[in-house]
Amino acid sequence: MIEVEHLSKSFNGQPVLEDLSFSISDGEILVILGESGSGKSVLLKHLIGILKPDQGTIRVNGKDIVPLPERKLLGIRRDIGYLFQDGALYDFMTVYENVAFPLKEHTALKRRETVEKVTKILTQVGLAGALAKYPAELSGGMRKRAALARAVILDSKILLCDEPTSGLDPIKSREISNLIHGLCRDLKCTTVVASHDMENSLRIADRMILLRKGRIVARGTPDDMKSSQDAFIQEFLT
Ligand SMILES: Nc1ncnc2c1ncn2[C@@H]1O[C@H](COP(=O)(O)OP(=O)(O)O)[C@@H](O)[C@H]1O
Ligand SMILES: [Mg+2]
Repeated sequence: MIEVEHLSKSFNGQPVLEDLSFSISDGEILVILGESGSGKSVLLKHLIGILKPDQGTIRVNGKDIVPLPERKLLGIRRDIGYLFQDGALYDFMTVYENVAFPLKEHTALKRRETVEKVTKILTQVGLAGALAKYPAELSGGMRKRAALARAVILDSKILLCDEPTSGLDPIKSREISNLIHGLCRDLKCTTVVASHDMENSLRIADRMILLRKGRIVARGTPDDMKSSQDAFIQEFLT
């Protein structure tokens, strides 16, 4: 459960997020929709404490993370999978090594258990045949899949995805969106997806919020959004 209350953030006196309140229930997929520059990435970074708000509280499983020192935040971040917009794989590691890396850093799993776990998740994301490849040898869609596998390898119960479909063609966008949806349901992950991809968001979201210039201008289920008469939502939908 993630609960955000009255979150505000400015950069150099310029408001970027203004008085945001919303919550995400366990196992739910919330999509934060908004045009480029609306504050989606800034908001996601607040949820793992990379950025601190000027005002407001952010409770993760009941605990306000805003006042926590960096040392405590590291522990919280370990339990949160984060799919960065650019994939952010290590270029000098194979796909296998990239996904195994968090396990080596944070667990005492034996080699055989690591191999099993990594192979299983890579099979799940459709990369069983690419274990030994380096990121430079992968297509954009495959890089996103690998990054997604790495994001959930520590059995995170919270998954944050920043623009998972950006830079992908419509078919690959659909595939990665379906994959996120399937993984979240499978792993019972509480999931927040930042996106400007309305079509895929409508398909995978349990609930959505629409950001505009740092404010929530609409919220609801995909059906609520589709039936809204609001001009801005309709413009965004089409
Ligand atoms: N570290 C920062 N310092 C100053 N301004 C920032 C910083 N990060 C983001 N911004 C500004 O905040 C606004 C929202 O950015 P962002 O959250 O990245 O938008 P989105 O992800 O929705 O495209 C933009 O105007 C951006 O320039
Ligand atoms: Mg962004």
